[in-house]
Amino acid sequence: MNQIKVFAPATVANVSCGYDAMGFALSELGDDMVFTKTDTKTVSIIEIHGANLPFEADKNVVGVVAKLMLKDSNADFGLDIKIYKNFMPGSGLGSSAASAAGTAYAVNQLLSSKYNNLQLTKFAMQGEVAACGSAIADNVAACIYGGFILVRSYDPLDIVSIPTPSELVATIIHPQIEIKTEDARKVVPETISLKTAIAQWANVGGLISGLYASDFDLIGNSLIDYVAEPKRKLLIPHFNEVKKAALNAGALGIGISGSGPSIFALNKGMFAAKQVAEAMDGVYDASGIAYNIYVSRISKKGVHVI
Ligand code: HSE
Repeated sequence: MNQIKVFAPATVANVSCGYDAMGFALSELGDDMVFTKTDTKTVSIIEIHGANLPFEADKNVVGVVAKLMLKDSNADFGLDIKIYKNFMPGSGLGSSAASAAGTAYAVNQLLSSKYNNLQLTKFAMQGEVAACGSAIADNVAACIYGGFILVRSYDPLDIVSIPTPSELVATIIHPQIEIKTEDARKVVPETISLKTAIAQWANVGGLISGLYASDFDLIGNSLIDYVAEPKRKLLIPHFNEVKKAALNAGALGIGISGSGPSIFALNKGMFAAKQVAEAMDGVYDASGIAYNIYVSRISKKGVHVI
């Protein structure tokens, strides 16, 4: 195989209660990337569409992950890479993660699947380090494994795939402001009280149980974040109004997507998801804030060849 084209899905990290520990992949939003083998042994990013990102391989997560993998595998080829970004960096939808995980998956295909998903997640996490300074796994693992994932442990890394009820549909509104993950991480408290920790991990248990049992009420009731949301919502215009409007319109639950500013809601079925989209639209339409809105099923397969 000399060339591969992949779709790397956008992802929603944290899923409210699972800060740095949970995520899911979207089926209808993501980046496309084309990787072509060369015999120069260098990594060149030759085209970038849809975003203003660096072409220098060492400054772009795509280049960072590709170089790391070619070196680790002692590959006898180099790469020309084309990137088609379909959603914005700084959106809270795992833009850098899609680039990093998409690269890890594609390069692995060109290496005849030398690495497993856990190893690919570790490579992609190095892309996250390059992008925001932290080796976070929730977005990249969701992109690589698909569906819902739990980062059960960071050291050693352990990723658990959680079942995804087919009726679950996400509505996502992305106000057109940029929040850098690095900055959004600084507002999350370093320590929390035992009382807060108990409430938070009880909801993680509830969310996982709800996903296993396809118990939509339990899923919705568990989408509560006592750790990051109280601080991060202050960075997102009209967060409380969007939350209220979405819940009134029938969303199971709602929270900040990753480090924001995107806000996600989970819904039972496409009809409900579209009604929630209208309610969310209404809030930003009234305030004059520009936004993008997405309604998407959950991608059970994650990054894949197209
Ligand atoms: N879990 C990470 C955070 C995701 O919330 O900072 C970054 O998109």
